[in-house]
Amino acid sequence: MLLDSERPENIKQFDLPTGTVYLEGPASSDYIAPLLINAKLSNFRSPNRQKEALMLTANLPEGIVYLARRQKEIIGYIMFHYPSQYTRWNRHPRILELGAIEVSSTWQHQGIASELLKQVFANNTLEEYVVITTEFHWHWDLKGTGLNVWSYQKMLINLFGKVGFKKRRTDDPEILEHPANMLLVRIGKKVNKIYLKAFEDMTYQHSLVR
Ligand SMILES: CC(C)(COP(=O)(O)OP(=O)(O)OC[C@H]1O[C@@H](n2cnc3c(N)ncnc32)[C@H](O)[C@@H]1OP(=O)(O)O)[C@@H](O)C(=O)NCCC(=O)NCCS
Repeated sequence: MLLDSERPENIKQFDLPTGTVYLEGPASSDYIAPLLINAKLSNFRSPNRQKEALMLTANLPEGIVYLARRQKEIIGYIMFHYPSQYTRWNRHPRILELGAIEVSSTWQHQGIASELLKQVFANNTLEEYVVITTEFHWHWDLKGTGLNVWSYQKMLINLFGKVGFKKRRTDDPEILEHPANMLLVRIGKKVNKIYLKAFEDMTYQHSLVR
């Protein structure tokens, strides 16, 4: 039995011809635990491991998870956390990483990811952060979507651009590893000049690979 205190603060009903979907968050791990996960949410890891990752992220002090839910089943999600300690971005106190967004292939192409992004960025907390997403083409679902890397890159620039992300140049070697990889950045409205400058300084660190 779900307690009212476990229900996400923001819930939006999204009516599609294929059924009603709820876009909701921030979701706690207690809220996620009894839900099922769609068998096609497998782009990054197996669905069960993905559910575990969502719960772990929700438990982090700075973790944010929003879900797209159909009845008792998670059909999509977006999650944020501090950047990994093995990256340069971790040294900045106000960077949050958009770790992943995924919509089950059964439900794709109906506007769910776009609405999920709009819903999560209506959350004022994110205005205090530089939010980054490091996009590596080896994580993209080229096979499932039938897109090539360049069309997929364009699709992501358009998708994340809807909530203010812009492509930024960087000498991060992982990004430079392939020309389709990219760093997308959204500067929150409340990020002060000092944090902004610290972020700018971080994009180029004069690594040997340029
Ligand atoms: C990327 C992803 C989340 C998009 O989800 P979605 O719910 O289908 O996205 P939307 O329906 O909101 O579509 C957003 C835009 O992308 C376009 N789009 C989505 N899928 C597309 C496809 N297969 N081919 C062409 N365009 C596509 C839509 O037409 C829409 O464009 P518009 O704004 O001009 O109308 C989904 O494809 C996915 O889960 N991919 C695997 C994981 C991944 O790559 N995540 C992103 C990196 S973390």
